[in-house]
Amino acid sequence: MINWNDTQVLVTGGASFIGSSLVDALVARGARVRVVDNLSSGRRENIQGHVDAGRVEFIQGDLLLAEVVAASLRGVQVVFHLAADHGGRGYVDLHQVECSTNLILDGMLFRAAHAAGVEKVVFASSGCVYPNNLQTRTEQELYLTEDLVRPPYDADNMYGWAKLMGELTLQAYHKQHGMNSASCRYFTVYGPRGVENHAVMAMIARAFIGEDPYEVWGTGEQIRNWTFIDDIVAGTILAAERIDDGRAVNLGTMERITVRDAAEEVLRTTRHKARIVTRPEMPTGPLNRVADNRLAKQLLGWEPKTNFVDGLHRTIDWYFSTKDRDQVRAILGRMLTER
Ligand SMILES: NC(=O)c1ccc[n+]([C@@H]2O[C@H](COP(=O)([O-])OP(=O)(O)OC[C@H]3O[C@@H](n4cnc5c(N)ncnc54)[C@H](O)[C@@H]3O)[C@@H](O)[C@H]2O)c1
Repeated sequence: MINWNDTQVLVTGGASFIGSSLVDALVARGARVRVVDNLSSGRRENIQGHVDAGRVEFIQGDLLLAEVVAASLRGVQVVFHLAADHGGRGYVDLHQVECSTNLILDGMLFRAAHAAGVEKVVFASSGCVYPNNLQTRTEQELYLTEDLVRPPYDADNMYGWAKLMGELTLQAYHKQHGMNSASCRYFTVYGPRGVENHAVMAMIARAFIGEDPYEVWGTGEQIRNWTFIDDIVAGTILAAERIDDGRAVNLGTMERITVRDAAEEVLRTTRHKARIVTRPEMPTGPLNRVADNRLAKQLLGWEPKTNFVDGLHRTIDWYFSTKDRDQVRAILGRMLTER
């Protein structure tokens, strides 16, 4: 068990949507928190309140530089490693080279963490490690159990391969050198501070600016298990507390929701009356991706607390009360494939 009050923590990528939400929770538990982020997609305003209050130390730097890695790790006991070159479906499909740099970043960070004597590394992995060839049939009631990630591997894009290599690297460090770690396989996370390159946030943004016809990428029949940010944060902290052996655990709901149903719920909730048009030629991702979360329950005592409709309503409220229509119109087209 970790006494957070007494613990020096590093959150890499801590200015991101998920990273900054994790920082909020760690600060609330009394941890001494350092964030390192190059702000390539993270936003300073996500953590500025804590920095101003003296609760978070912020290093703006690039973790592809060895000196930044070393400075970030000084005196650190627990690392939450969330920094990654990452975006939504449009990004990971179209930016393979950028995502390949995660192999370098993760390798450098894990090697330096071991050298620095870090007690625990928690890695933000992804549902993208699961074999693509299993996720092709929407009529199948498939729940992805952790053991399905095994040879012959078939990860989702360079992004997924890098996450898989990160998991395997941490397991190797545990086996060979006894470095403790855990990998959390996040499934399609959404919530306040989410950005428009991910599907749910894009759907909300399209409604916010009154898009009509209202575009849905893919046929709309693809199935997902969107998972609310607070649940992801809670599961990540539990993984730090309860997993040592580098094991990977799914953090995702077991709700099976089609993209079309999600879009219709967004339209209903926002009272935006528009005609849905599907764009099957656009980046779509696997057709059937839903976690099995029983291992997280067993190992961590974790279960998602927020169902999709409630989480969606909270996210819509946040989006509509904080965003500016002209600004969203100006960035949305670019954000669908960028970060
Ligand atoms: N959002 C999801 O649905 C989801 C799903 C699975 C896994 N993840 C993982 O969770 C983590 C956080 O994702 P997110 O959605 O909050 O968004 P994100 O992609 O914005 O987070 C990545 C963070 O890392 C920072 N970063 C990138 N390269 C860096 C570098 N070289 N040096 C220092 N910092 C760097 C970015 O500025 C950003 O703050 C990522 O590792 C991502 O792969 C997210």
